[in-house]
Amino acid sequence: MDPLHIPTGTLCALIGPPGSGKSTFASRYPASWRVCLDEYRLAATDNMTDQSATPVAAQIQNLLLDARLSRGLTVLVDSTNVFPHVRAGLLARARYWQRPTTAVLFDIPLATVEAQNASRDRVVPLHIVREHHQLLPTPDQLRAEGFAAVHLVSDLNATAHPITLRCPAHTRHRP
Ligand SMILES: Nc1ncnc2c1ncn2[C@@H]1O[C@H](COP(=O)(O)OP(=O)(O)OP(=O)(O)O)[C@@H](O)[C@H]1O
Ligand SMILES: [Mg+2]
Repeated sequence: MDPLHIPTGTLCALIGPPGSGKSTFASRYPASWRVCLDEYRLAATDNMTDQSATPVAAQIQNLLLDARLSRGLTVLVDSTNVFPHVRAGLLARARYWQRPTTAVLFDIPLATVEAQNASRDRVVPLHIVREHHQLLPTPDQLRAEGFAAVHLVSDLNATAHPITLRCPAHTRHRP
């Protein structure tokens, strides 16, 4: 089910701190739609947190973004995307290929993010979670940056179709 009705060919940036639920949300969509720096760092170094592999991971991500956007295929960017310069790079690629853009802002309370982070296999250090949470942009900021549509996860959770998982735990995506 697509709670956002993402138009075909959209670059959709998920924006949220580690543990906020981005990959869980992305697992609702076809796996081929997803690009994820963590996975390319893992492929390059056997360690998804090895920041020395971020440049190569970004190159792989950019190749896939261009491959999909040029064909009018939807892309979900499943990384924290909390830094404005990172979002600017994504927006520039979408603009180049003249594709629509959507931001999904994981405006989840810090306490919930910390609890979700603590309860999973891959626990990200608390100070990193807190730093990233502080960097969360506002919806107005995202619109000013150029995102055509901005969805708040808090709003989605308040609708008749909350993104809170109903599926059994074993079927959930494990990043
Ligand atoms: N809506 C939700 N309700 C309850 N638990 C959730 C929800 N979304 C995610 N979780 C749980 O929170 C944990 C973190 O989720 P997830 O791995 O999707 O976060 P993430 O934002 O992708 O983190 P990272 O940036 O580190 O990859 C997981 O154990 C997941 O099952
Ligand atoms: Mg993830």
